[in-house]
Amino acid sequence: MSRYLFDSAALQTVGRFTALESCYDPVSRRQLELTGLTAGWRCLEVGGGGASLGDWLGERVGPRGEVTVTELEPRWAAPRQRPEHVRLLRHDVVRDPLPGQDYDLVHARLVLLHLPERISVLQRLAAALRPGGWLVLEEFDCGWTPVLAAPDDASAALFDRVHTALMGLLEKAGADPLWGRRVMGAMAAAGLSDLTATTYAEAWPGGSTGIALHRHNTEQVADRLTASGVTQDELTEFQALLHHPEFVVNSYPLISARGRRPHEKEVP
Ligand SMILES: C[S@@+](CC[C@H](N)C(=O)[O-])C[C@H]1O[C@@H](n2cnc3c(N)ncnc32)[C@H](O)[C@@H]1O
Repeated sequence: MSRYLFDSAALQTVGRFTALESCYDPVSRRQLELTGLTAGWRCLEVGGGGASLGDWLGERVGPRGEVTVTELEPRWAAPRQRPEHVRLLRHDVVRDPLPGQDYDLVHARLVLLHLPERISVLQRLAAALRPGGWLVLEEFDCGWTPVLAAPDDASAALFDRVHTALMGLLEKAGADPLWGRRVMGAMAAAGLSDLTATTYAEAWPGGSTGIALHRHNTEQVADRLTASGVTQDELTEFQALLHHPEFVVNSYPLISARGRRPHEKEVP
């Protein structure tokens, strides 16, 4: 069984997907375009969440191409209409065989970070590429979320305290909150070539779409946060701070790493 901390059957999932899509889809689309993505490609979108990127890939590859979106909990993506060449699968990337091979492009955003088995999953994703095919992994580095402005010092300290407790819960569940800074090295170790990475971050002011990610995440695991030592008052103040117009925190930096499976003749 996956130990994913944020059970995707919970209602907060919708808000989480909305925040991620709104803040990071434009970045991800740019990164995916940089692989040369074109009509006719076969693509695998792993842990696709609300499937906004999977659906977009479907538009880009057209009916001569094929997109498979996998998701541990596909209930939020399922109601959206999609053409026949885009299929959505309930699938556990740790336990289930991959749904295909010889992909032109495999993409996962913010999935491997959560998986204790991330290295073996990465290796299997790399092996599912055709020679010359691209793996694009986009992951947070949760270790750099400075408070950029706050109504007072106590508010900034409160944010850091609650956020640190949340990171502790993620680690306990087997996640690596610093995976973003390790992903390119892990892709090199998996034998991928032509590696490069780009990091994107922005300011998230109180009340913004992005900062709501902190609201959904902490709301969903509020009982575990209080069990870990955060008080109910601190949680209530934290939630209020996320709406405060003078509070601004740096977004999670998204590190988009891409590399390709070498052609046979390139393998030493
Ligand atoms: C933080 S969300 C990211 C969703 C989407 N990729 C995005 O960036 O908008 C992590 C996603 O990974 C999915 N997930 C977690 N463990 C998984 C597994 N073992 N197999 C497939 N998907 C998984 C979750 O259900 C969730 O939708």
